[in-house]
This record gives sequence, C-alpha cells and structure tokens, in this order.
Amino acid sequence: MLPQEFLLQVIQANPIESVAGSYVQLQRAGSKLKCKCPFHPDNTPSCVFYPENNSFYCFGCHVGGSVITFVQNIESVSFLEAVKMLAERAGMTIPANDRSMAEAKREEEFKRRLLALNRSAARFYFNQLTGADKRGLLYLKERALLPETIRKYGLGYAGDKWDGLRQAMHAEGYSDEELITANLCSRSQKSGGIYDRFRCRVIFPIFDLKGSVIAFGGRTIEKDGEPKYLNSSDTPVFKKGLNLFSMNFAKKSQSKRLILAEGYMDVIAMNQGGFENTVASLGTALTPEQCRLIRNQRFEEVVVSYDSDAAGRNAAMKAINLLRAEGLRVRILRVENAKDPDEYLKKFGPDFFRRLIENAEDAVSYLLDRCRDGIDISEIGGKNIALQNAVKVLSGLDNKLERSSYISKLSKEYEISQTELTEAVEEQTGKRQRRAHRQEQQAVINRPLIRDTVNPDANEHHREATAERWILCYLLRNPEMLPQIEARLAPEDFVTGLNRRIYSALTARAAEGLPPEQTVWTEDFSAAEAGYLAGITAEYDQVEMPEQSIEDCIGILKQYRMSAAPADALSDADFSAQFARLAQNKRGQI
Ligand code: CTP
Ligand code: MN
Repeated sequence: MLPQEFLLQVIQANPIESVAGSYVQLQRAGSKLKCKCPFHPDNTPSCVFYPENNSFYCFGCHVGGSVITFVQNIESVSFLEAVKMLAERAGMTIPANDRSMAEAKREEEFKRRLLALNRSAARFYFNQLTGADKRGLLYLKERALLPETIRKYGLGYAGDKWDGLRQAMHAEGYSDEELITANLCSRSQKSGGIYDRFRCRVIFPIFDLKGSVIAFGGRTIEKDGEPKYLNSSDTPVFKKGLNLFSMNFAKKSQSKRLILAEGYMDVIAMNQGGFENTVASLGTALTPEQCRLIRNQRFEEVVVSYDSDAAGRNAAMKAINLLRAEGLRVRILRVENAKDPDEYLKKFGPDFFRRLIENAEDAVSYLLDRCRDGIDISEIGGKNIALQNAVKVLSGLDNKLERSSYISKLSKEYEISQTELTEAVEEQTGKRQRRAHRQEQQAVINRPLIRDTVNPDANEHHREATAERWILCYLLRNPEMLPQIEARLAPEDFVTGLNRRIYSALTARAAEGLPPEQTVWTEDFSAAEAGYLAGITAEYDQVEMPEQSIEDCIGILKQYRMSAAPADALSDADFSAQFARLAQNKRGQI
C-alpha cells in the first residue's frame, strides 16, 4: 500500500482541470468545467470536472472519480501506474520499499519477460522463412512482397510441426506457462498436451509504438485453411482494440493524413507502394480508443480504405462516426475494380492509388450519397425518403458552417429551397438534442433500476441500496455529522457490499480528518468503484437532503436488518426497538 498522505499529496499536486486539460478540450461552466466525455461517444458535454475536490464524473457513462481515476481510464493503466505518472508529472518521488510498488515491479518484470519471449518467437518465425520448408517464403513472394518489405515488417513462417516454436523457446529458457500466457502455445483440452498455436501460417508480428512485439497474426498458406487469420488473444502485454497495426511506422510519416485499412496485407502492400502513413485495426471493428490513438499521434485526417464489399461499407459507416467524434476529418476511398487496396495496388500500381486517395470523397458527402442508395429520387415519394435520411445526417453535424454548405449543395440537388431545408434540419437537431437530454435525465432517474454491475447486491435490494446512497451522499456533504450517524449505524447495517465498504472506509478513517471522498481514493477501490462514488455526489448535486429523509433511510436499513435476523441474533437494543415498533402497530394481534 502506498501511504495515504502520499496519495493525497499526489492528488493535490495535480489539479484535475490541468491534468484533464492536457487530454481534452475543457469548457468552463460556473465553478465547474465540462467536456465531451473521452470515455464514450458523446454529443453533449456530459463529463463534469469539480476543481473544489479534484474529482470528475460523466453523467452519460458514469465514469468518474479522482484525478487518479481519470488518468487510469484515459491511459488505460493500473492505479499504481496512474499514481506513478501523476507523481512524475508533479516532480515527486515515490516512497521507496513499499510493498505494492514491489508488486508492481514484479508485474513489470513479468511483462518485460513476455515481451522478450515475443521478440524471440518473432525471430524464430523470421528464421523459419529461410529454413528447409520454403512454403512460407514462397507464399509471401506469391503475394508480391519484396524481400525488404518482409524484413521491415519482420514477417515470418510457422511450419507444420506441432512443437517447433515450443522446443526452440524451451532452449532459450522460457517455460510452458510463459508460452501459454503469451498465447503462443495452447494446452489441449483432451490430452493436456501443449502445442504451438500457429502452424502452417505466415506470421505478422504486431508492434507497439515503442517497437516491442506485443502480439501476432498468422495467415494460413493453405487454400481453404481455417481460420484464414489467427490472431493473439488478449495477454498481459496486448489488448485488442487499443493498438493499430503498423502505427509504429505510420507515426514516423510527416503526413497529417492517415490511411485506415482492414487487413494486414493491405497495409503492407501500401507501405511497399510508398504509403507509409497507413494502419489497420487488427481484425476488430474500429474502437474509440484506436481513434484517440490516431489523434494523439497528431493525425488530422483519416482516409478510410476498407474493402469494397457490403461488410466494408458498413464498417466504414461506423468508422466515420467514431473518427469524427474524435475531431478527425474523414474521407472515404472507394476501391473500384478490386476487392481491397492490396489487390488494387497489384492491378493498377501506386500512381493510380495516389489518385484514388486524392479524390477520396469527404465522409459527409459519402453519408449523404448513401441516403439515396436503392431509392429512385426521380419519384416524389423516393425523393422525400432520401431527403429525410439526408436531414438526419445533417442534423448530426455540430459545425454550423459545415452544415450550411451541405444544405446549399443539397438544396440544388433536390431542388428544394434552402430555407425549408434549413428549417427541417433545425427541427431535427432540436429533436435530437431534446432526445439526448431526456435520455440523460432518464439515466439519472433510472439509475438504481439499471442493472448495477459495480454494486451487484443493489439489483436484489433496490430500496436498501437507494437508502444507503442517500446516507453516503449526506455524509459526503456533511462530514461533521459522521459521529452521530456512526453511533446509530454500524457498517453491518448496510445491506449491499460496496456501500458497506465505502461506509467502513469513511468511518475507519474519520479520525484522520480527511475530506470524506478522499478516504476512498485508495487502491482498495477500483476505478469503477471510484466512479460510482463520484456519481453519488454528482447525481444528487442539486437535490435537497433534509435530515428527516436521512432518518427515513436509517429506518429502512434497520428494518431490513431486523426482518432478516433471527431473534437471538439481535442486540438487546434492536430487539427492544423492534418490539416497540410492533407494539405500536394497532392492527397487531393484541
Ligand atoms: N481477419 C481476422 N480473422 C479472420 C479474417 C480476417 O482477424 N478470420 C482480419 C485480418 O486482420 C485481416 C482483416 O481482417 O487482415 C481483413 O480480412 P479479409 O478482407 O478477409 O482479409 P485480407 O486482408 O483481404 O486477407 P488476404 O488478402 O490475405 O486474403
Ligand atoms: Mn486481401
């Protein structure tokens, strides 16, 4: 455990508005600050920062907590790593010989070893290309890759042996456990034997930004081999959806423009054709984290170059929204007369491909064109449907200038007056905003009704959980009332696990005189739990809490405990109270 005083010093030394301000664009709103939430696609600024206690909370996705939680979430790092980053940011040194730091060091050491194993494996696969079995090398040649391209990407080959890699890595001192954790070997369910995962495949190592090998993709060299691509699953050094294939090369390009493709081979072929500023999203749909990575690498524009089939078009539609939400300009490249960029380059060469890039349509025009797919707009009915679709697209544009230039273009195409079109778009925008607002409100009102995953006990105990949340909120606002409440309410009176832990932490640390929310900003509470607590204060921000309502809440918990406990397990005082309540009940037997 890090000493609590140290944590508080770190928090104090890092005002949340200046830390958050280096990742997102903050707007001032009274004593608070707001931004579009970096943790979910957000049209309204629903993420609120509270400088007075250095906390934040998103009313849309319920992420929240301290400045440490913010860094944990935005950098996808552990609590300790976040503390370390913030300490460094403030020029503080972490106390030495601390147990959890020792644990973190062990973890880091383990990760380093996995990365070393991955590098050795990549080298093994690379060397296999020139081994006795030349099928891998011939496959890559067949795919028109030059020797220098193969070397640049460190491509390799896994032959048909069941333990080729395993034997080689054993010889280098790696254990089966490490090979399995790195997802390079698997254990057979049936025999319990251990075997290489990648066999009869060409291997694509995946590098992170620092050039470490974090994972592998393997393509079968057999005609109908299944699956066509086999990828590493998540490991301690690899999280799918957080990385982009070839970003280690793309980030070096001087261009502000990034080309985003579907496949490994597309990216490699483009690189060979002289387009180094290109990446692929690694066999998953594009994620918001990947979009943020693109923006963090200072790219301003993304040219989406997905396959020309229906799946590619659908994926492009989704990618457009995610990329634009990150503030990136988006254009859509249409690969014609070829199924993907790899095939296009092979058929037509880099000069034609460059022209495709230059002529790529901007994403909004692309979306507007899609509005009349399969619709005959020479008919009045068809035209209306297409227009309605277009109005929906336009109402999603935040930038007024951008919006009005598309309106003027569209009004010509559809032969409708600009004023009318503008009115329709504004009406739709209003509807959209009202809907978003209503949804936000509903989310707050329905909060206890949504399945609670952070405090799962609340799903069975809505009434008690709500009472507990009121009490916690009351105590956060009125810490001076803690002794009085504590005298009447033991942690065991809390019905749901998380609320009980929070209350225990509040009472246990009360003597230290800390601001109450800070007592739980320790590594005993996960990022999600910290968000939950920040949410309690934020959601009841404007709500009055008269003392009587707290009395009622305490009553609810006491009542629950009494009805749940057998008589001889009750304290004498509780037993008398229960009896007194019964005796007052006029409808009783006596
Ligand atoms: N992919 C995957 N698993 C599969 C199929 C595809 O992970 N079973 C991912 C791979 O990253 C692949 C990308 O999706 O590169 C695109 O798939 P696809 O278009 O089918 O493959 P191509 O890149 O065209 O592959 P190739 O040219 O080698 O046939
Ligand atoms: Mn292909």
